[in-house]
Amino acid sequence: MKTRNVSISPAGEEFPLPDAQAAAGELERLRGLAAEQRKLGREVVVVMGVGFVGAVMAAVVADSRKPDGEPGKFVIALQRPSLRGYWKIPVLNRGVSPVKAEDPEVDELIHRCVLETRTLTATFTEDALELADVVVVDVQCNYQKNSLGDVRNGTTDMEALEQAFRTIAEKIGPETLVLIETTVPPGTTEQIAFPIMKKIFETRGIEGNPLLAHSYERVMPGRHYVASVRDYWRVCSGIDERARERVVRFLEEVLNTKEYPLTVLDRPIESETAKIVENSYRAAILAFMDEWSLFAERNGVDLKRVIEAVKVRPTHSNLIFPGPGIGGYCLPKDGALGVWAYRHILGWEDEIFRFTAQAIDTNDMRSLHVPQMVRDALRNMGEAIAAADILLLGASYRPDVGDTRYSGSELILRRLTEMGASVRVHDPYVESWGEIEGLEDDPESSKGYGRFFARQKNLERLEIEPDMWKAMRGVKSIVIAVPHKHYLDLDPDRVAEAVGRPFAVVDCFCILDDARILRYLQLGCEVKGLGRGHIRRLKDSLKG
Ligand SMILES: NC(=O)c1ccc[n+]([C@@H]2O[C@H](COP(=O)([O-])OP(=O)(O)OC[C@H]3O[C@@H](n4cnc5c(N)ncnc54)[C@H](O)[C@@H]3O)[C@@H](O)[C@H]2O)c1
Repeated sequence: MKTRNVSISPAGEEFPLPDAQAAAGELERLRGLAAEQRKLGREVVVVMGVGFVGAVMAAVVADSRKPDGEPGKFVIALQRPSLRGYWKIPVLNRGVSPVKAEDPEVDELIHRCVLETRTLTATFTEDALELADVVVVDVQCNYQKNSLGDVRNGTTDMEALEQAFRTIAEKIGPETLVLIETTVPPGTTEQIAFPIMKKIFETRGIEGNPLLAHSYERVMPGRHYVASVRDYWRVCSGIDERARERVVRFLEEVLNTKEYPLTVLDRPIESETAKIVENSYRAAILAFMDEWSLFAERNGVDLKRVIEAVKVRPTHSNLIFPGPGIGGYCLPKDGALGVWAYRHILGWEDEIFRFTAQAIDTNDMRSLHVPQMVRDALRNMGEAIAAADILLLGASYRPDVGDTRYSGSELILRRLTEMGASVRVHDPYVESWGEIEGLEDDPESSKGYGRFFARQKNLERLEIEPDMWKAMRGVKSIVIAVPHKHYLDLDPDRVAEAVGRPFAVVDCFCILDDARILRYLQLGCEVKGLGRGHIRRLKDSLKG
């Protein structure tokens, strides 16, 4: 664990956390900017939470135009000055995106809005909220699991979100629109945010209801990152008619709602539920394929081909291969927010949820099958997993992004380490793996997956390998965990030369075609793959 009082960016640059004096100066800076921008006829929008969602949403709003072609909004991106997150503020204020993705528009948009139109700035002071015409809440709402594979044994971390609602209500004006975009347990806007804010408004002598609305993000970090925020359908709702009208107006001003019309629902609990249903549906389709993946492995079936065959039918085109577990910030927890809300916000006692919870549990456990495959492949080669050098290709949860949150790769790494292997990691999009490194003084570090595994001490020294080819040298196994474009066309001969000895290849994402599998086998390697039961057949064909 590292101890520090500076926030370190993924590139390794250190930024000392701001003190109280810095905060006072910062508010003056923002007041000056907001006054200038108002003179130009622009609304002030505070986007709270500069994460994977907030950073891009802030840029999209800052880049939006009025009908006359002039910028219509000035955006203050508000990020709390935590060890994990503070660095994003100075980095963003240089015009550099704090989130990395394949979509070049992310960097372009942030550069343009910060340095050219000057409609975007980032800050750490919550006092910025007093300047807002609109607050967009893009902070996280975590679900804390107490065991792996039993999502019911956990709880939603509402405290941080409730504190954010309190802070907002203490600082905003009566006419400020508060748009909650965070994925929340259904019932949150009406039963948690509203009473908290209403009470604070009353103590401040403000009559009338806070203008509260909910609209969830469907952002997909990756090649179409910006478009997934701006050029995509949105669902929204307001606490009352005034809030509903206000949120519709705001979203029409900042998003491409002409081509992607809004769906306006009556009540926030409906749009909150829509988000949870959307992601639970996705998690369930993926979980359903886990048992067929095992079936395929044990019965000589190539699941890749089966899925391709089924998808030809247009009604079944969203069937997808689940990879080594389902990561990311959303799918492993969103259904749980619904299960939790049913009892803890909405007051029901019975258990109505079966599929939603089961899907998350199945997906969480899927990754642990990969270390078993590595173990078996090595055993077939007469090797043991203990002390074996293994290269894990890919740390993030999906292809061509650097987001490592709850990735299947993390579980694979932790279990392999627990089993005594010595794992090297390469990922072209990840400079440092926050969930693994841990920080002594960061409360989040003690809440991660590390709790569920023994013998994790060695991982504290883990560093991401910058050179994939060098990292291959001498390994006993290579696990291709993420289909980053860099791993799709690896030439078996070149890989074998880089490794310098026979090794086991474990393909977690149906990346290898039959020609490559055959070549690895010819080179004396052992090959295994999730859902790839036909490898045995290919092996036998070489004997004949
Ligand atoms: N990442 C996705 O693909 C995605 C997609 C759709 C919806 N969502 C939802 O959007 C929300 C945000 O997700 P994210 O991926 O951007 O999370 P994130 O963790 O990347 O970003 C949240 C940011 O908010 C900051 N923050 C927390 N509390 C704050 C406060 N009080 N004031 C200021 N900043 C604060 C955190 O430090 C962090 O930088 C979540 O509810 C998530 O479920 C995410």
